[in-house]
Amino acid sequence: MPEISTIYKISVIAFTLFFGASGSGCPVLECWFVQEKPGHGGGFSVPMSQEKSLMFIRTEAYSEESLSALHPPADISPSRIYYMTDPAGTFCSAALNPPKGSVNKPKCEINPFMPHASMVRWASALTDSAQSPVYLQADWFSVAAQGLDEQLTLSNIMRAPSASKEPQVILSVSSKTPVVRSRLGEPVLLDCGFWVDASSPVHGSGFSVEWRYQFRGEGRLVLAYDGKNDRFAETSETGADINITGLYEKGNASLILEESQVRHSGTYICTVYLPHLLAQVAVDLEIVEPPSLSIYPSPLPLLVPGQALVVQCEASGFAPHTLDLSWEFSDADGTSRSLGQSSRLELDSGKLGLGRGGEVTCVAKHDGGTRRAAATLSVIGVSAPSIEDSMAMVAVALVLYGLIKFLSWTLSSSDSSETESKDKVNNVYFCPTSKFSKVLNVIHAVFSSHV
Ligand SMILES: *[C@@H]1O[C@H](CO)[C@@H](O)[C@H](O)[C@H]1NC(C)=O
Ligand SMILES: *[C@@H]1O[C@H](CO)[C@@H](O)[C@H](O)[C@H]1NC(C)=O
Repeated sequence: MPEISTIYKISVIAFTLFFGASGSGCPVLECWFVQEKPGHGGGFSVPMSQEKSLMFIRTEAYSEESLSALHPPADISPSRIYYMTDPAGTFCSAALNPPKGSVNKPKCEINPFMPHASMVRWASALTDSAQSPVYLQADWFSVAAQGLDEQLTLSNIMRAPSASKEPQVILSVSSKTPVVRSRLGEPVLLDCGFWVDASSPVHGSGFSVEWRYQFRGEGRLVLAYDGKNDRFAETSETGADINITGLYEKGNASLILEESQVRHSGTYICTVYLPHLLAQVAVDLEIVEPPSLSIYPSPLPLLVPGQALVVQCEASGFAPHTLDLSWEFSDADGTSRSLGQSSRLELDSGKLGLGRGGEVTCVAKHDGGTRRAAATLSVIGVSAPSIEDSMAMVAVALVLYGLIKFLSWTLSSSDSSETESKDKVNNVYFCPTSKFSKVLNVIHAVFSSHV
């Protein structure tokens, strides 16, 4: 029955596709194939060509069936489609295999690679004994890939029997920490691991490891281990180490810095040498330390209205060297507002409306976090007595004065009416009232002169 055999074939293909490609978590990787344009000699600015390329990746070798099940896209030249065997699954990380249709894609570049004997002192011994030249006669490639979200950086050396388009990973160097951020004074681990295909003739002939530091065009050797002679190269660097047990047992070439310092910020390149081969990855180390702040002068002198006081905010001990400084003022009621954005601030109580004073705060925004320093500011001549207090005193005086005036008026008016009606009969009665009225007039005069 032909239908059944078709269904069988389809399911075999589906099975192969599922387990051959996606099931193992190995990606189909889009890469740029970059090489020197043919026909140009050496020189400094060799023109490069860049072509779209695609790598199908499996952990097992391809069979006829698995190859025929793959359908490369038509927009990529068949000569730039590679069927890669990666026994250790170094490419098969989630960081290189984003979900279908995701906007962010891993970065990948593939270049032709020329095996060569290394010239560096700690790796030259690797090629002392004669290597199988037949093995080196093949197509060699290097692939550099960067995973999503700074999770992985990888550099693989691959060998394909001449013109086969089926390369196999021979050496893989990778880091799970392409970007490391550390506080000052803490120990730092820069991850670097390598894997060598055990079936390759270059396996077991020794390896060397090198860590170089690079910052703004300057470089230095941090550490170099000559595995052939089991020797560290002499370097001026102190406090940097690798774990030799881990290096041999697990291919763990991670660099350990005992205590991070500002001068450690930069790029670290981990290189692994095999006879005639090398691969390297870069790890960026950022030392991030928020600043310590102080306000000068300290303590702040008393501010006299009409005078200006220059205060300075000093930030120290921070890295990296970018910082945003600003000032805040919080008055006696706790209301906060901004006073500007520089390390120097001119405090003028009139212009800035500082009232009786309050708290002046310097705010530093930094990659390592926000830091604050505060100082108390007192403005003199305003606080005792305050305008409100003076107003209240005037009001009380006015009320008192009004009350007394009213009293004296009531008393004197009753006097006059009585004088009118009773004439001199009540003279005896009038006298003390008149005296009292005089006392009131004295109080009146005192108040008038004061208010
Ligand atoms: C060195 O590596 C070995 C093997 O990975 C591990 O057991 C050991 O604890 C490591 N030593 C240090 C000092 O980290
Ligand atoms: C590599 O070695 C370092 C230092 O011994 C250790 O801290 C780290 O966990 C090791 N990494 C792996 C993947 O074993």
